[in-house]
Amino acid sequence: MATIRDVAKLAGVSIATVSRLLNKSGYVNEETKLKVEAAIRKLNYEPNTIARGLAGKKTGTLALVLPDISNPFFPELARAVEDVARTYGYTVLLCNSDNQPDKERGYMQVMRQRYVDGILFVSHTLNARDLESMSEAKIPIVMLDRSPAKVICPVVRSKNGEGAQLAVRHLLEVGCRKIGHIYGPQEMIVAKERVMGYEEAVRSFPWYTPTMMEPGYFTIEGGADAVEKLMSRHPDIDGLFIGNDLMALGALKKLKMLGVSVPDQVAICGFDGIQMAALTEPELTTIVQPIYDIGMMATRILIKKIEGLMEEHPIFEFDVSLAARGTTRTGRG
Ligand code: RIB
Repeated sequence: MATIRDVAKLAGVSIATVSRLLNKSGYVNEETKLKVEAAIRKLNYEPNTIARGLAGKKTGTLALVLPDISNPFFPELARAVEDVARTYGYTVLLCNSDNQPDKERGYMQVMRQRYVDGILFVSHTLNARDLESMSEAKIPIVMLDRSPAKVICPVVRSKNGEGAQLAVRHLLEVGCRKIGHIYGPQEMIVAKERVMGYEEAVRSFPWYTPTMMEPGYFTIEGGADAVEKLMSRHPDIDGLFIGNDLMALGALKKLKMLGVSVPDQVAICGFDGIQMAALTEPELTTIVQPIYDIGMMATRILIKKIEGLMEEHPIFEFDVSLAARGTTRTGRG
């Protein structure tokens, strides 16, 4: 039996175009319409109602797979996804993968069977085969924030490298003379790009060596442990760029326990702009990701994909901004 793929191939158009015509969901020019209709007649194609459902909105449900719902960054992202989904008549299934690939694949298996209309994924472990299997099930995926190095799907994220350089420039401007970096897991592209941005900004300074960096695993505890190691290795560090706000909160608390004054002795700049960052004393200076905008943009792209209104796979990178607060108000600059 002919499939929608056969019709598209014979007509010389994409599956999304055939789907749009069949579901009357979006514009198809007259010439294309005639070619597709001719192909349908020639192949005696009968649209499979389930397949048609899969080509467009079928269950009115989106899945959002997050890697760590205990990190405030992700609930802020989920807020935007749910707000936008609801305005388009979709509900959101929230899945927490704990950064575990087998959990991520387990969720994809369930979603293939439950026919969600589309998936928003924050993951650094998905591979091309995973994405193909969802494409074969006609379930579009959009990746947010993190993504594997090479993906054939839309990605919406921040300019991490530029954000890291912005952080270092700010620390230099407030008078820091020796700046260390606490970084997230390097298997995650976001953490890797922030290390690259930091190294790009400090490489030319005589004090820079790789020993000026320490892993903090994107956690509060990791940030606390890392700052203790860094300060014992380089007691003359007077500035820290820290790769996410949770690690910065841990570092801030540990420095207080060690009797190190922030910002007078050590200034700190974090990354993310989670709401909690403004509640510390002193308030955390940080590089703000447009978390809500990332969630909003990704959801809108996914819904366009579901409804056959977008064929391409855009990569969208948002600018980040500096929120200069108390942890860098050194008076030295
Ligand atoms: O704090 C969590 C980190 O993981 C953020 O920096 C965000 O970019 C996500 O990838």
